[in-house]
Amino acid sequence: MPSDADLLVVKDLTYSYLGRFPALDGVSLSVQRGEKVALLGANGCGKSTLLKVIDGLVFPDSGNYIAFGEEVTEDKLEDQQFNEGFRSRIGFIFQNSDAQVFSPTVREEIAFGPLNMAMDRRQVETRVVDTLEMLGIAELADRAPYQLSGGQKKRVAIASVLVMNPDVLLFDEPTAALDPRSQQWLMELIVELSDAGKTIILATHDLGTLDVLADRCVVFSEQHQVVAEGPPGKILADRDLLLGVNLIHEHTHLHGDLAHHHVHEIGHHQEPEPLPDLTARRTVQ
Ligand SMILES: Nc1ncnc2c1ncn2[C@@H]1O[C@H](COP(=O)(O)OP(=O)(O)O)[C@@H](O)[C@H]1O
Ligand SMILES: [Mg+2]
Repeated sequence: MPSDADLLVVKDLTYSYLGRFPALDGVSLSVQRGEKVALLGANGCGKSTLLKVIDGLVFPDSGNYIAFGEEVTEDKLEDQQFNEGFRSRIGFIFQNSDAQVFSPTVREEIAFGPLNMAMDRRQVETRVVDTLEMLGIAELADRAPYQLSGGQKKRVAIASVLVMNPDVLLFDEPTAALDPRSQQWLMELIVELSDAGKTIILATHDLGTLDVLADRCVVFSEQHQVVAEGPPGKILADRDLLLGVNLIHEHTHLHGDLAHHHVHEIGHHQEPEPLPDLTARRTVQ
């Protein structure tokens, strides 16, 4: 049941691309302010599509979506005031930064959103400088985004979203295709943003990051339905569930550093449960 604390509520969403390719089938989900929620599932299960609905980029065939207490529809988003209010409160970091980063310089890229919102130029400059600093990319300010490395582009894409100071951040496969150092950096950033009060929703099939990145996991089946929900420790311990949704395969060994990680989380009142092996998961993309 949705409550007042629910910042975002999707109810019974169904969506097919071109009316033919199912992506979401009766998906319901509530997200509370300040939560870190991971959408978990095999490739093609509908995670990115749900993020697009939450960002108001696609509209469900049926069901509805309520953000900040108001239903979000295509019609409503045509209203400039509603559009600006909604867009300033939710930011989407795409899986592929190339699809997000398009300005001639990093500085212009980051200034684009605020300028578009008709923010005062001086104020925009200050914000851009602060955001560049925060993401450790001040020295890239005058570079062309398309010339940057994948990790640098990711930082620019994140900067272009954070400069708007949204309440909700949507990350699509945040750690995919990043080198280990950038992955670590991004995980730490997400935790920092969460600690600062941001609501985080991320899509992933990377089981090894859930412990840090999620308070709650929402598991999708390959039939585009939500089949389970729970804290990472519980979800990761459910081997049958993970097998059933194709997140692990039958030869995945249930041991490894992840289990270690969880001992603290689970506490002393319970035996640590077996968890998927981090090395095995690399083979089950
Ligand atoms: N632009 C598109 N046109 C047609 N089908 C699509 C498109 N984008 C995604 N799909 C299909 O919708 C389903 C869900 O995709 P997606 O939301 O991208 O899944 P995930 O992010 O979990 O990998 C998949 O079957 C995918 O093939
Ligand atoms: Mg996806």
